[in-house]
Formats: sequence, C-alpha cells, structure tokens
Amino acid sequence: MAGEFVERPLGWLVRRVLGRAGSGRYLVGIAGPPGAGKSTLAGLLRNAIDAEAGTAVAEIAPMDGYHLPNSMLRTTGSFARKGEPDTFDVAGYLAGLRRLRTTPLGKPVAWPTFDRRIDAPVPGGVVVDRQSIVLTEGNYLLLDDFDGRAWSAVRTLLDECWYLDAPRELIEDRLLRRHIRGGRTQAAAIRKVHESDLRNADLIATTMARADLILREHAGRYAVAER
Ligand SMILES: Nc1ncnc2c1ncn2[C@@H]1O[C@H](COP(=O)(O)OP(=O)(O)O)[C@@H](O)[C@H]1O
Ligand SMILES: [Mg+2]
Repeated sequence: MAGEFVERPLGWLVRRVLGRAGSGRYLVGIAGPPGAGKSTLAGLLRNAIDAEAGTAVAEIAPMDGYHLPNSMLRTTGSFARKGEPDTFDVAGYLAGLRRLRTTPLGKPVAWPTFDRRIDAPVPGGVVVDRQSIVLTEGNYLLLDDFDGRAWSAVRTLLDECWYLDAPRELIEDRLLRRHIRGGRTQAAAIRKVHESDLRNADLIATTMARADLILREHAGRYAVAER
C-alpha cells in the first residue's frame, strides 16, 4: 500500500533521482493514463535534472516511440484501437530498454520518438549517448503480461517506476482537445476518448499499486506517496 501523500516541489524529484543514480545508467519509468501529463513531467524533470547537474545528464526515451506502424494496424484491423496495449511493439520496447542498460555511457543508442503531427514513430528521434539518467514514460510500464505480450518485463529493466495520476475529468478534457487538435471532429474525438482512451485509463489504473511513487500534480507541485 502507498503511504501518505506529501506535497513536494519538482526539485525533490530531481534530488531523488540524482541521489540514487550511480556510475552506470539509471532508468526511471513514469507510467500513468493518457493525458495525465507524463510527457510534460518527463520534459520538466529532464530540464531540471540537467540544470541541477550543470550538464546534460538526462534524456527521455518515450514508450510512444514503439507504437506499431499505422500500415500494420490497418492490415490487422486495429487502427481504431491505436493506443491500446496490443498496438505497441512490446518486444521492441524491451529490447530498447535492454540496450540502454547494457550499452556503455558514451556509446550512442538510437531511440524512436513519436510525432503527433504525422501520428507516427520517428526512428532514431532521440539518441542517448553520455546521458546516465533516462526517463522512459508511457501508459503501460506497470502492466501485467497481456495477450501474450511481456509487459511485466518492463519493470524489471527499470531502477524505479512512478505513476502519475490525474482526475478523470481532467484527462478526458485534455484528450478531447488533443484529438481535435490532431484533426478529429468533436464527435470522433468524443468516441475515441470514451471507447478507447478511458478504457485504457481504467486498465492502467489497476497498475498504480505497483509504482514506487504515486504523483498527483497541482499548480507545479506534486503530492507524492511512496510505497
Ligand atoms: N502540469 C500541467 N499543467 C498544465 N497542463 C498540463 C500539465 N501537464 C500536462 N498538461 C497538458 O495536458 C496535456 C497532456 O499532457 P501530456 O504530457 O501530453 O500527457 P501524457 O504524456 O500523459 O499523455 C497537454 O496538452 C499538456 O500541455
Ligand atoms: Mg505522452
């Protein structure tokens, strides 16, 4: 069970990561439902870690880079369900995490990012090189094995994994806006949120108890519960 929530500034998270990172590469996962603010938090944290360290020591390796290509999703009839656990290349994600763990610092590891404008992964969108701290963020980092996919192995490759929680109304509102920004009509955006995103969010919520830290953001501060 998680302990009490204590309010912390971003700097507390920065010091936690810098204090725990050793001489090798340190991998921090940020899990949570779509729209919770994982990518935003990862960006803020990377910048704040680099600022505190005085040099670029942190990089972001998004799980979203391992979306299966749209062509494949269309072939298998799963394009409408894009974002659900079986629309990701789990084996590829695991191989990427293993590469980050086993490749010496200073040797480049190419990592795919995800470009919302083209709704597709960008191979080698980021290159992790000398950075000793990697933040990997995504929906399903704490999922059980599912439909023959070895999600549970993700946690074994991370040094710690956090869960960013957010109220359902907030993520619903953010996802609607995101889908409309991405070109959907309001009706199509509502359908996507209700028939797909919020179902994913419910599944993801079942994984929260596995997190080392649970975070809830409010006005730039974080209510944090440690397991
Ligand atoms: N702390 C925050 N304050 C205000 N808006 C936020 C915050 N975190 C995220 N958002 C907004 O919410 C939306 C979803 O955030 P994002 O980081 O993309 O979520 P996720 O990666 O979990 O899907 C974005 O439009 C982002 O600008
Ligand atoms: Mg994101």
